[in-house]
Amino acid sequence: MAIGMQEPTRKSAFPEDFQWGIATSAFQLEGSPNADWSTWDPVLSDIPEITNHYAVFREDLKLLKELGVNSYRFSIEWSRIQPRPDTWDEEAIAHYQEIIDILRSYNIEPMVTLHHFTHPRWFLERYPWHRTASVEKFLRYTEKMVSTLRNVRYWITFNEPYVILIGGYLDGCIPPGLRDVPHALVALKNIFTSHGKAYDIIHRYIPDAQVSIAHNMSVFAPWKKWNPFDRLLKKSANHFYNHSIINAFRTGVFIVKFPFSRVVKIEVSIKDKLDFFGVNYYTRIHLRFNPFKKMGVELRHLDIDGHGLTNIGWEVHPRGLAKVIRYASRLNLPIFITENGIATHDAEMKVTYMKQHVDVVERCLKDGLDVRGYFYWTLIDNYEWLQGIDARFGLYRVDFKTLKRYPTSAATYYAYLIQSRSKI
Ligand code: BGC
Repeated sequence: MAIGMQEPTRKSAFPEDFQWGIATSAFQLEGSPNADWSTWDPVLSDIPEITNHYAVFREDLKLLKELGVNSYRFSIEWSRIQPRPDTWDEEAIAHYQEIIDILRSYNIEPMVTLHHFTHPRWFLERYPWHRTASVEKFLRYTEKMVSTLRNVRYWITFNEPYVILIGGYLDGCIPPGLRDVPHALVALKNIFTSHGKAYDIIHRYIPDAQVSIAHNMSVFAPWKKWNPFDRLLKKSANHFYNHSIINAFRTGVFIVKFPFSRVVKIEVSIKDKLDFFGVNYYTRIHLRFNPFKKMGVELRHLDIDGHGLTNIGWEVHPRGLAKVIRYASRLNLPIFITENGIATHDAEMKVTYMKQHVDVVERCLKDGLDVRGYFYWTLIDNYEWLQGIDARFGLYRVDFKTLKRYPTSAATYYAYLIQSRSKI
């Protein structure tokens, strides 16, 4: 355990039923031969099975038990379930059911994500999100999962819809790799329509289900406070990235407004189609107006508070978590921190990051905010999308040559934190 990280004996603000969890996603651990990403990123041709989790998942799930978590968020790899449009792979379905059964036998509550960035390749080729047929295809998959998998109450339909839209349709860095605003707006409508309809399907099969999305929230700041353009960018980014989704769940209308452009309103039937709200939080982003950059914006991570930058250059900014929890509380729903974590080789830095963010959650609880769970991202080192395999978010280090897992002191610390903060 890290020096100075021992907990003083005191009354914890965490309720007994607080969900202490870990979050993962299937593709990042196990790859998939039929997924769009497998051919998108050449790095994956050398490590198609990534950590080999699909084969050794039973051993990996034991780690959750050792940590003492009572919840586990994981995703289903759609391209394994439906490798071709007309084929359901029953063995793959049984595989994910076994994960659920093992979790239940450990008294760990499963939280299942249906869509975590990847798609079957046929979906991306024939029915990408800017085509109307995408909705029906996603709903077929959803219904198959919800009608088949047993003993799941918590469902996340989409992980980080805005990341899919920005990365896939504005920046072009992730599939389908477009830079096309009109397509992005149609895709937004189709993804959120899918969420709304999936919400109803899930509730039809599981009346007491708890359904949400996991929304990536960040804190934004102007690069130079005195610069009115930087301040304007900060305001727009905060409105778009953090608030427009929250507003749309309250009103059924997305209001998208970028600086120097007209306001776009998109109606989608998602009003109140949430039972809780999943917040993924990692960092603060500084914004600078730069007319030579895409959309006139330059993003920077600055180590202003002295907490350091992570392995992938992100600022550590624990206070920001309180801010986004407050934003999310406008929905008047239970909040789950569905992801929070740090990429670093330095386990002590991981320990500090975790403690600082859990402290923030505790302060929010004391202030009466309704946070029901905290899910650390992530269990073992994995494939970090555009950053490859060296980002190191795991509580367990993976040697990518031997694929062996090694506990870091952050794993020991998380187990300790859960135990000590769960005390009433
Ligand atoms: C995503 C994860 C990713 C993590 C760290 C989140 O935005 O849901 O898939 O690994 O951030 O970048």
